[in-house]
Amino acid sequence: MRLAVNIDHIATLRNARGEQEPDPVAAALIAEQSGAAGIVCHLREDRRHIKDNDLARLRRAVTTKLDLEMAMTTELQQIALNTKPELITLVPEKREELTTEGGFDIVRHFATLVEFLKPFKPAGIEVSLFIEPDKKAVDLATEAGADLVELHTGLYALKQGDEQRLELKRIRETAAYAKSLGLKVVAGHGLDYHNIAPFKEITDIEEVSIGHAIIARAVMTGLEEAVREMLQIIK
Ligand code: PXP
Repeated sequence: MRLAVNIDHIATLRNARGEQEPDPVAAALIAEQSGAAGIVCHLREDRRHIKDNDLARLRRAVTTKLDLEMAMTTELQQIALNTKPELITLVPEKREELTTEGGFDIVRHFATLVEFLKPFKPAGIEVSLFIEPDKKAVDLATEAGADLVELHTGLYALKQGDEQRLELKRIRETAAYAKSLGLKVVAGHGLDYHNIAPFKEITDIEEVSIGHAIIARAVMTGLEEAVREMLQIIK
């Protein structure tokens, strides 16, 4: 199973001081050098973490695969077509949310979606739809011309015990169904060092997309060295 690393929260940290560090592009390169198969960033409407200039720099620097998460707006459509990431992932976006809260409502937006996706194939950009693990959503994703589906694992991450096992079953079955229709299947949201293990067995899911847990872990595992380095300088 491949890993795509979402580096949005490197930008969140950088923006807290409004300066240059830490740089999401430098983080993307470290992730690639460490074995990540792709880099994911979400250019949100409010630009709360990744900014337009980050995206342009990421496009120049990333050599594995750049996945641009975005809402279905004409502004983002134009940016994506100009930037040419290898992949776009369409996500629903609400201004007030802390993070993406669920899969794209493909039933409601189907007609707009079909029109929206038209220019991407000729531009050589693959399209992924972030959906709930639901067969009807997979059917519509196929009909809309998506190349991939990303199954939302947020509910799985929030649940425990039997409820979590049930959600995992739903994800496994939807992944198998999507694969049988010829879609590539990835999964993401809320996956972390404690809940990822069962996904190793779901061979129909070829990649997971993980952000927060990895960036949070990096802060804690890197802190000791950072403190020691500073002490070395001031002693
Ligand atoms: N996949 C999608 C579509 C997302 O919107 C996000 C969050 O930006 C992720 C994966 C990564 O989620 P997390 O940060 O919880 O690992």
